[in-house]
Amino acid sequence: MNKTFGVKLTGTGSYLPEKILTNSDLEKIVETSDEWITERTGIKERRIADKGIATSDLAAEAAKRAIADAKIDPNEIDLIIVATVTPDMIFPSTACLVQKKIGLKKAACFDIEAACTGFIYGLACARGMLSAGDFNTCLLIGAETLSRVTDWQDRNTCVLFGDGAGAAILKRTEEESDILAIHLDADGTYSKILEIPAGGSMTPASEETVKNRMHFMKMDGKEVFKLAVIKMMKAAQKALEKCHKKPEDLAFLIPHQANMRIINALIERMKLPKEKVYINLDRYGNISAATTIIALDEIRKQNKLKPGDIVELVAFGGGLTWGAAVIRVSQV
Ligand code: ACO
Repeated sequence: MNKTFGVKLTGTGSYLPEKILTNSDLEKIVETSDEWITERTGIKERRIADKGIATSDLAAEAAKRAIADAKIDPNEIDLIIVATVTPDMIFPSTACLVQKKIGLKKAACFDIEAACTGFIYGLACARGMLSAGDFNTCLLIGAETLSRVTDWQDRNTCVLFGDGAGAAILKRTEEESDILAIHLDADGTYSKILEIPAGGSMTPASEETVKNRMHFMKMDGKEVFKLAVIKMMKAAQKALEKCHKKPEDLAFLIPHQANMRIINALIERMKLPKEKVYINLDRYGNISAATTIIALDEIRKQNKLKPGDIVELVAFGGGLTWGAAVIRVSQV
């Protein structure tokens, strides 16, 4: 039998655009209020990338910070995976564009699309490819410019999303793995409740699709809300069961940051105290695939973890997809 390896998380980094769009700013764009947004979602402000800045730009900045944090020679990186629903273009992959922007020449590069669960799906890909022994060092990124696919005339969605990127360096190791367990799941029968209907092979871009605003995100918020609580709970439980851990073993739960009411319902069911749940939703809104890795980077940079602490990432998103990962953070 071929030898399998473990995976170490050796560095993280994140990058948020400087421009802040507050709830009061949104009051001038659509019929909404700071009070409604705060009460119904928990979001106070979000970051928006400047015109001309693409997902790969945010991703490259986060990548540089993760490389510095891991203190590695960037040329060690032989695998780049970008999780995103807002690639720079249909092809080439955003991962190839990041490779060019950070000046690397030899690495396998590809994107994955699992909406807000993208970073956790990416962790599973990276773990598989590193532990099989084919790659040594993976740069795994979650990055989004959701402001580009947000319909700024639709108050049901435009208040929810923001832009940003987070990155992790994962290295093959002969020691015990930092990734203790991953659970992934999906159900395509719910594909219609969260989608960007046009711009792909089913409904290519045309004058009509543009006129009908079909290149923007459409969402049945109530249905997504209901499913999010159930599916995140299931994923969080399953990943913990796989590695024989309990919610009380966690130093931090890092839930996908979509809505404070979804997070509260989840932590109530998991019987977790609020102090163990990391929240940055108020500052950034929902950044899809970038959300959980930005939160993990912030926790590490704020020195909230000690070596050996266990954290769990849990997310859900368009697809529907959902998943969770339990990580022992050996390097803080
Ligand atoms: N400001 C003011 N009023 C609003 C706004 C707004 N921004 N948005 C909606 N409303 C109104 C609605 O029009 C509705 O008015 P009506 O009763 O006159 O029709 C009223 O507020 C209530 O609307 P609901 O949809 O019932 O509000 P709800 O409490 O469900 O909250 C929300 C809406 C915030 C979208 C919630 O359903 C939610 O968070 N859903 C989950 C969204 C989510 O997690 N998405 C993940 C996307 S992940 C990805 O893959 C990209």
